[in-house]
Amino acid sequence: MPDPHAHAHLSKTELLARKNEEALLGGGQARIDSQHKKGKLTARERVDLLMDEGSFEEIGKFVMHRAKDFGLDKEHYLGDGVVTGYGTVNGRLVYVFSQDFTVFGGSLSETHAEKIVKIMDLAMKNGAPVIGLNDSGGARIQEGVVSLGGYADIFYKNTLASGVVPQLSAIMGPCAGGAVYSPAITDFILMVEDTSYMFVTGPNVVKTVTHEEVTSEELGGASTHSAKSGVTHFSCANEVVAITRVKQLLSYMPQNCEETAPTQPYETSGDESRPALDRLIPENANQPYDMREVIEGIIDTDSFLEVHQNFAENIVVGFARLAGRSIGIVGNQPAVLAGVLDINASIKAARFVRFCDAFNIPLLVLEDVPGFLPGTDQEWRGIITNGAKLLYAFCEATVPRITVITRKAYGGAYDVMNSKHIGADMNYAWPTAEIAVMGAKGAAEIIFKREIAAAEDPAAKLQEKVDEYQEKFATPYRAAHRGFVDEVILPSQTRQKLIRAFKMLENKVETMPRKKHGNIPL
Ligand code: HXC
Repeated sequence: MPDPHAHAHLSKTELLARKNEEALLGGGQARIDSQHKKGKLTARERVDLLMDEGSFEEIGKFVMHRAKDFGLDKEHYLGDGVVTGYGTVNGRLVYVFSQDFTVFGGSLSETHAEKIVKIMDLAMKNGAPVIGLNDSGGARIQEGVVSLGGYADIFYKNTLASGVVPQLSAIMGPCAGGAVYSPAITDFILMVEDTSYMFVTGPNVVKTVTHEEVTSEELGGASTHSAKSGVTHFSCANEVVAITRVKQLLSYMPQNCEETAPTQPYETSGDESRPALDRLIPENANQPYDMREVIEGIIDTDSFLEVHQNFAENIVVGFARLAGRSIGIVGNQPAVLAGVLDINASIKAARFVRFCDAFNIPLLVLEDVPGFLPGTDQEWRGIITNGAKLLYAFCEATVPRITVITRKAYGGAYDVMNSKHIGADMNYAWPTAEIAVMGAKGAAEIIFKREIAAAEDPAAKLQEKVDEYQEKFATPYRAAHRGFVDEVILPSQTRQKLIRAFKMLENKVETMPRKKHGNIPL
């Protein structure tokens, strides 16, 4: 730090002004320039972009570290590498911390951690989201275990806040080592392409341990984590896009678990029918179509914000609005792997369902699923445990839940995808729905095995039995006769039906059995 007596000649007001100026400079102009050269914004520029103009109130601007080792007693920066405070985003209160890479590489010291924990405590007490803008070289190496303790304090708070207030993490630079676990516990991660990365151990350690040669980008860049690992929910072209996405995400969420999401003004002409949907499902049941077209055909215009777009593309999840109300959508995607449920799809959807349930966002399920993906790869990696995550997530969700079966609803996947039996409130089916234990050919081959074998013309017999099974079961009517499907509707009527049904369910109260917490199969 500059000489403590250097300011002795200043008046009290001048001293305050000087300190404020100093704090705004973080690690100094040279390091700010270097940050800009890398194509990155500074911590304060990011906060300015995020918050409504003039709304940001900083907390702990003059905090300094207390460490003395390795020359730290001579090097201090006001704020200690993180800008923390509160303000509004589109008029709603949020708390933010923004790590300042210009100060010791944004590394986390004891005091840096204390500042973050302080705003998290405030956020929980006052019921508002926490946004973390991460750009950090990890633990402040000179502080040793004190820094590790600081991380653990944050992880603990992240966990306590989970399900109480929304927590969003935007990764704007390095995020390595144990530091990754704070974002990982939060609800949504956004990464910036080319300038951010996340990994538990970096390329050098990887090379030593596994002899793999890999770049930081390949190992833990935005594209890797959005498509391969699913660690990040959003891959953003640049920081401005990432911050815009944070604001957009917030618009679908309530402030905390006691509230419901804000609604948008919505005007209707009275005609909510969408005739184009009647022409969407192909004649041939094996032909794909894009579930996003169904989504777009149902929801308010341009209101879909897809989450995890590049990961497990055989299922589509995201937020949307229906008559101005925020909903979460989970849809099988027949255009990818025929919409089959596999491990990644189950995990992706389960996490999304749990978020929506935690924050009172009603769920819409659009179902076209041929079943769970067979094979050794899936079985050996645990499709049983992982598929159960999605089943469990739906079973325990108490928000309004509606399912529309657009086409296939086969086998265990029928049960799992928000069936009436596991607590869905309203279940609709389109006339194209096929609800059965399995496909007609497989079914006929098993139950008419002997009859087919004994027939003069086994192929003709098989076809006859396939047709019989198809006619009996590959329709929505068996399920409708039982009341497992509440109504068979034309696709064009879907929007109208859903608007009314969600309105009917808006005061739904469902109480689960008392317990400490459930034991979701992890
Ligand atoms: C203290 C750090 C630091 C750190 C960077 N700096 N990381 N100071 N502790 N962890 C300082 C540098 O000394 C430098 O100071 C400034 O920040 C910028 O760093 P550069 O190396 O010049 O920047 P760049 O070339 O962009 O490289 C960024 C980097 C690199 C890749 C992050 O700095 C790096 O590898 N840092 C160490 C990362 C690390 O091993 N951290 C500990 C991981 S273990 P000057 O004065 O020159 O500006 C961990 C465990 C957490 O985090 C466990 C939680 C449970």
